[in-house]
This record gives sequence, structure tokens and C-alpha cells, in this order.
Amino acid sequence: MKNVAVLISGRGSNLKALIDAEQDAYRIALVVSNVEDAGGLAIARDAGIATFALAHKGYARADFDDIVDEHLRAHAIEAVALAGYMRILSPGFVARWSGRMINIHPSLLPLHKGLHTHERAIAAGDAEAGCSVHLVTAGLDEGPVLAQARVPILPNDSADTLAARVLVEEHRLYPRALADLVRTL
Ligand code: GAR
Repeated sequence: MKNVAVLISGRGSNLKALIDAEQDAYRIALVVSNVEDAGGLAIARDAGIATFALAHKGYARADFDDIVDEHLRAHAIEAVALAGYMRILSPGFVARWSGRMINIHPSLLPLHKGLHTHERAIAAGDAEAGCSVHLVTAGLDEGPVLAQARVPILPNDSADTLAARVLVEEHRLYPRALADLVRTL
């Protein structure tokens, strides 16, 4: 059983999926947010999970990440799952968690890195969309892909309808990918 921290910035539906799927491979010991009123913090508290929330404004990126890192170490965290954490991480933080930090991204990487993935998949005329779990490395959304799930893009899809279809798959994929990673640590 590995202690995992989940880093969030928003509503936390992937956090909820990770909590609901918790089995013998990992235990979510800490939820961190850079947004003090992120909806996902309430999900964590309801589940009895420790939280640390601090607005990043006013901090140099590396200083903020050092504070987060202190909390991860205080909770004996062994792996980190980014779940809608909308902050670019400092190189030092990425290096410290190399091989032990994953992210879920709502596209079929290497397609559509960055933001507005669903709009871009539709605009590109892609036949399929999906989500990817990847190891976090220095380049944004560039680390090795560990797992993917695919959905069709339908003729009348908007970014919202496509996002909803992909999100269902995110919630299935992420717990499995996290469990697989921690078993290798
Ligand atoms: C998810 O769709 C996740 O893939 C995406 O943000 C959403 C967070 O939703 N992440 C990124 O775009 C990272 N670049 P959630 O807070 O409900 O899990």
C-alpha cells in the first residue's frame, strides 16, 4: 500500500474516482490544491483525507512547489497524481518526483497538448478523442504515456458533449493507471 498525494485545482471528479477505486495498491493520504476554494477539497474532506490548500499568487514557482513538497514529505507520500492541477511545475519539483508522478490529460497524446483539447480535436476533424495518463517530465504533457482510453467523436459533438464522454473514460482509466504505477515502485 503506497501513500499517494493528489494535486487538484478544480472540481475534483478524477480525485473522486481515485478515492472510490482505492483498493490495496494505494491510499490517498493528502490532497493539495493551489486554489483555496476548489470543489475537490470538499470531496477530500468528506472522505476524511488531509488537505493542504494555498493560493499560488505571490509565490515564485519554485518556492511554491517547495512548500508543496514539504507537505508531501510530512505525509510520507510515495507517489503523486495530478488530477486537473492547472499549474506548470518547477523543474526541481519534477526532478524530485521523477518516475513517481503522473498526470491525466484529456487527449490522445501526443495530440493536443495544453488547453482546449476537445475544441481542438473537433476542429482538427479527428475521428476519435480520449485521455492519456503519462509520467510527468519537464515538458508540458510530454512524458511517456502509460495508458490511454479512446472514444468516438460524433457528428454533432460540442466541446462539452465530447468532454463528458471523455471524462467517463478518465474516471475508469486513472485509478487503474495509478495502481499499476505504484505496484512498480
Ligand atoms: C480533467 O478533464 C483532466 O483531464 C483535465 O482537467 C479536468 C479536471 O477535472 N486536466 C488537464 O487539462 C490537465 N492539462 P476534474 O477536476 O473533475 O478531475
